[in-house]
Amino acid sequence: MSYNLLKGKRGIIFGALDENSIAWKTAERAHEEGAKFVLTNAPVALRMGTINTLAEKTNSQVIPADATKVEDLENLIEKAQELLGGKIDFVLHSIGMSINVRKGKHYTDQNYDWTHKGLDVSAMSFHKLMQTLYKKDAMNEWGSIVALTYMAAQRVFPDYNDMADNKAYLESVARSFGYFFGKDKKVRVNTISQSPTPTSAGQGVKGFTGFMNYAEKMAPLGNATALECADYTLTLFSDLTKKVTLQNLFHDGGFSNMGVSQDIMEAMEE
Ligand SMILES: NC(=O)c1ccc[n+]([C@@H]2O[C@H](COP(=O)([O-])OP(=O)(O)OC[C@H]3O[C@@H](n4cnc5c(N)ncnc54)[C@H](O)[C@@H]3O)[C@@H](O)[C@H]2O)c1
Repeated sequence: MSYNLLKGKRGIIFGALDENSIAWKTAERAHEEGAKFVLTNAPVALRMGTINTLAEKTNSQVIPADATKVEDLENLIEKAQELLGGKIDFVLHSIGMSINVRKGKHYTDQNYDWTHKGLDVSAMSFHKLMQTLYKKDAMNEWGSIVALTYMAAQRVFPDYNDMADNKAYLESVARSFGYFFGKDKKVRVNTISQSPTPTSAGQGVKGFTGFMNYAEKMAPLGNATALECADYTLTLFSDLTKKVTLQNLFHDGGFSNMGVSQDIMEAMEE
């Protein structure tokens, strides 16, 4: 169903790798809600993924950018404004990567070069993105910037590895930069803390299926899907949430406020 929530709005969407990606679903829904946007991903991901299918479907252009490279971000933000015909109303940072996770390196035995790289890609890139948008004065007033995160920023999930620390940094950057963006430019900055979701990044985490099933049994509403995350993200891009900023918003079927559920109790008694 479409409500024209984003009619006339211009955006930049990072992180659509394949049709399972949360960013992919967000782009499809933003298109249905009347937005115009540019899609972007790292050059290597553009070669591997199927983003052109999404670009055709949503009538959008793809501009490559490695989110760790400020010059790429500058080029992206300039070109996006040219293509879309004005300043930007919404930006989605849907980027995450840990080489330690990918290569099965335990949290107690980190390769720090990989830790640095993961921090740069998953968290510092959000600061770089916002600093570039801020310096270029590229956001419209009452615009909205959203990054995706996970609850391992607050609580221990052992197999989430160094991504837990990256997410804690990401959420802090959202608050710290969000202050300046709010005060100086009237722009919202929030993070959405999403349920485990079967995407490329999600499935890379060791024991992901167990992780997902546990959350499903714990959350009174069950896990939130990628499409549901897209819907929630659109509300934050819309004019209906203008005074929501500096927040880490849990989108997890209620998981984050649970102690234990009946389902888990029953499973433990078996
Ligand atoms: N899947 C989950 O369980 C889950 C749960 C909570 C939060 N998240 C977060 O949601 C976001 C999106 O992940 P997803 O689950 O849709 O997986 P995904 O693998 O589809 O998306 C991750 C994206 O990051 C991009 N990326 C990696 N390095 C990059 C770089 N240097 N520059 C630009 N882009 C780069 C990848 O190409 C990919 O498109 C991530 O921040 C992830 O941590 C995912």
